[in-house]
Amino acid sequence: MPNRLRRMRRTDSLRALVRETHVQASDLIYPIFVREAQTEPEPIASMPGQSRLPVSMLAEEAKKIQGLGIGAVLLFGLPTHKDDRARSSGDPRGVVQKAIRAIKAATPNLVVMTDVCVCAYMTHGHCGVLNGHEVDNDATLPLLANMAISHAEAGADVVAPSAMMDQQVGAIRTALNQKGHHDTAIMAYSAKFSSAFYGPFREAADSAPSFGDRASYQHDYANARHARRELLQDVEEGADILMVKPGIAYLDIVLRARELSDLPIAAYAVSGEYSMIKAAAERGWLDEKKIVLETLTAFRRAGADLVITYHAKEAAAWLNNN
Ligand code: PBG
Repeated sequence: MPNRLRRMRRTDSLRALVRETHVQASDLIYPIFVREAQTEPEPIASMPGQSRLPVSMLAEEAKKIQGLGIGAVLLFGLPTHKDDRARSSGDPRGVVQKAIRAIKAATPNLVVMTDVCVCAYMTHGHCGVLNGHEVDNDATLPLLANMAISHAEAGADVVAPSAMMDQQVGAIRTALNQKGHHDTAIMAYSAKFSSAFYGPFREAADSAPSFGDRASYQHDYANARHARRELLQDVEEGADILMVKPGIAYLDIVLRARELSDLPIAAYAVSGEYSMIKAAAERGWLDEKKIVLETLTAFRRAGADLVITYHAKEAAAWLNNN
């Protein structure tokens, strides 16, 4: 006789009893855009509900985030000065470095992560030093290492290299250790695909490439085996957390990452995913709360320990009131 699988989903309490996957606010990481030359929050048109914040507002924001029980923040900087060597990226008095200090002063226990990439600091918007129209891998590594050291010195707990240069994790690990920052962890954007889902972010961070695209350094989204190789390489280079990005269209990669390594796995629900949900919810076409909780659960079910999401504050409030 065929079994009745509906038996264990008959009531709310039976369903809760056998639920396999849970999401907590402490699993979530909230990205923050910090802009140097401003005093007021500046709403990001393509990401309703998100703003670029001045450093002066971060203390208050960090306390709110900590109060919601969110696991960590991930900082992105918008500097006033851009050039073709990303000189302001490693400035001890740069925007992200100031932001880290402000947050650590207000909320010493809130985990602070920083994006380590030079695209927002380059006039041309590419993630590395240019040699003609090519991004020069090895010439970029010292810049990334220098930026990571300056973040560590300012008090970052975790640096997250996203430039997709080969050996960036190893170069950063070595440089951090040489400066005595043995305890600064690395969250590697290991499986970062070249994706149209980053569209709204590039407006938010003012980091769109002025010519061409990022296909020569970010992964081809058609390739899963190649992503495995990148993940394995970052494990060997000393990553502490592996990340898959974008999120919702890449759950197969999250699952592979989970099966490949015992390191914590993070999935990044990127700007385009956020904006799609917001746009549909604004039109009344989707129930935002339900969609967000469903997608967050899906990331966790696929094997992600952590989810980086612009919905973190709303989701934390919903989860805490459940
Ligand atoms: C920097 C960086 C990007 C994102 C995170 N770090 C943009 C890009 O690679 O073009 C995208 C995040 C998002 O879309 O939410 N290289």
